[in-house]
Amino acid sequence: MAVREILVYPDESAALRRKSQAIWKVSANVERLIEDLKDTLASRPEGIGLAAPQINIHRRVVIVRLGAGDEGAAGAGPPIALLNPRIVEARDERRDFDGCLSFPGLYGTTRRPHYLHVMGRDEEGNPFDRVFEGFDAVVVHHEIDHLNGVLFIDRIEQPEDLYYVRTDASGQPVRVPALTTRW
Ligand code: NI
Repeated sequence: MAVREILVYPDESAALRRKSQAIWKVSANVERLIEDLKDTLASRPEGIGLAAPQINIHRRVVIVRLGAGDEGAAGAGPPIALLNPRIVEARDERRDFDGCLSFPGLYGTTRRPHYLHVMGRDEEGNPFDRVFEGFDAVVVHHEIDHLNGVLFIDRIEQPEDLYYVRTDASGQPVRVPALTTRW
């Protein structure tokens, strides 16, 4: 069990862009990977999901915390692992909040499915078949993207949709556009 370093873009973009390989068996190494992902996510209170390639292990394992909703990570449940997650059906695309532990301080609005039917294996290696809805679908979709080397900045539709959050002089959080050329 260990907290691993989370790779950060763009320094580690080559590793973040690499596609991950399927898990064939829940070996001791895979069990350790799941524990490390959980420990690493737990070390970041704002985090609601983490994918193995973010700790430089290119296997198809993601960790998600469901039920994040309006309260963010504070209201989210315990971490669950999804192995070899495969999207069976994705629909009800909407614009919603996005962010990533590999992009500290950067947030965005992306279009993602709010209905996501996924099959794969659970952390014991048993098959699962479940539907994620609402923001849970967004989180699971974001993490599965990581396994294919896809990052949330790839899903930004217009420059204004990518922003940093800074604190202004009165201590209020303000959005600072990351890409816009308007001054
Ligand atoms: Ni991410």
